[in-house]
Amino acid sequence: MKKIIIIVILIVVVFLAVLGIVSPVVSFKDKITINANESLKTDDFIKKVTLGNFESKKVDTSKAGKRDVEIKVKSILGITKNYKRSYQVLDNIAPTIEAKGEVVVYQGDTIDLLKDVKVQDNCDKDIKPTLDGSYDLNKVGEYNLKYLAKDTSGNETSLDLKLKVIAKPSPEVARTSKGYAIENRNGVTYINGILIANKTYALPKNYGNGLTKETEAAFYKMQSAAKEDGLNLKIVSGFRSYQDQVIVYNKWVNKDGKSVADTYSARAGHSEHQSGLAMDLNWISKQFETTNEYKWLQANAYKYGFIMRYPKSKQEITGYIYEPWHYRYVGVELAKELYNNGDWITLEEYLGIDSKYK
Ligand code: DAL
Ligand code: ZN
Repeated sequence: MKKIIIIVILIVVVFLAVLGIVSPVVSFKDKITINANESLKTDDFIKKVTLGNFESKKVDTSKAGKRDVEIKVKSILGITKNYKRSYQVLDNIAPTIEAKGEVVVYQGDTIDLLKDVKVQDNCDKDIKPTLDGSYDLNKVGEYNLKYLAKDTSGNETSLDLKLKVIAKPSPEVARTSKGYAIENRNGVTYINGILIANKTYALPKNYGNGLTKETEAAFYKMQSAAKEDGLNLKIVSGFRSYQDQVIVYNKWVNKDGKSVADTYSARAGHSEHQSGLAMDLNWISKQFETTNEYKWLQANAYKYGFIMRYPKSKQEITGYIYEPWHYRYVGVELAKELYNNGDWITLEEYLGIDSKYK
């Protein structure tokens, strides 16, 4: 019996000894705190391992915060036991912002100021930048703003942004050599608001449907005034449509050839008669000059808003030889200026344009 007791005691002792060998004695360091991305190994957690050894491996420090690591400890008999240890990763590095320092935008346009902003961080991925400050894209001005980016550890960084809201440039306006704006309204050219039909500027095919009311009224007024002076003014050719001008021009080309016809007859689309603002008066002849009606017109037409459109010695400028019979309505104010005390200024000279087929 005594023997049995001794054997049992021995077995228990051996069992306990084996147990001691199977389970190594591990002691850990108290607290592990490390900066993000600094190197850390399981070794750094261990104070001492008796009757065993631990697996030495790198520990992830790329994420800030309280993290866990599993440390495998193997007994000398090869039995592995896992120990879970916590460690603290500290992040005190702020994200970096890459973006334009100055952005210029037209008033009234829209823009996503955060679209091309790049934020990088040592720990956090996909940090969304924000914008600090207020601005109004509808108001011209300079706005001092800041891009902001914050990581999960609360590290924040900022980058200045100057936002310039500028007025939209007005579309480029074509101008004559005298600086007058050239406008095209439905294919019709207006320079300084004056309709122009000459060799350079044509009218659309379907433009015009008779003399304008204003032109007609001005003519009747002028006709009455002439009548009171005992003279008789009459329109021999007023409005001519595009098609009318095709016929007229072709007639002269057949008679005199194109280059001569071009000196006195407009090609279709280029005749002022299609504008409804021009008229040939009394006599389409050089001899009209010798009549009293001509002399009266020279002295008085401007008072009713008419100009002599193709004066003597201005062929190079107007594109046409002298036409003592052709008058153009421009309104009283401009007519007076172009009358120039009898030394007619042409529309081409006044506006700074040419009259040439291109
Ligand atoms: N005789 C003028 C230039 C015209 O044909 O319109
Ligand atoms: Zn004419």
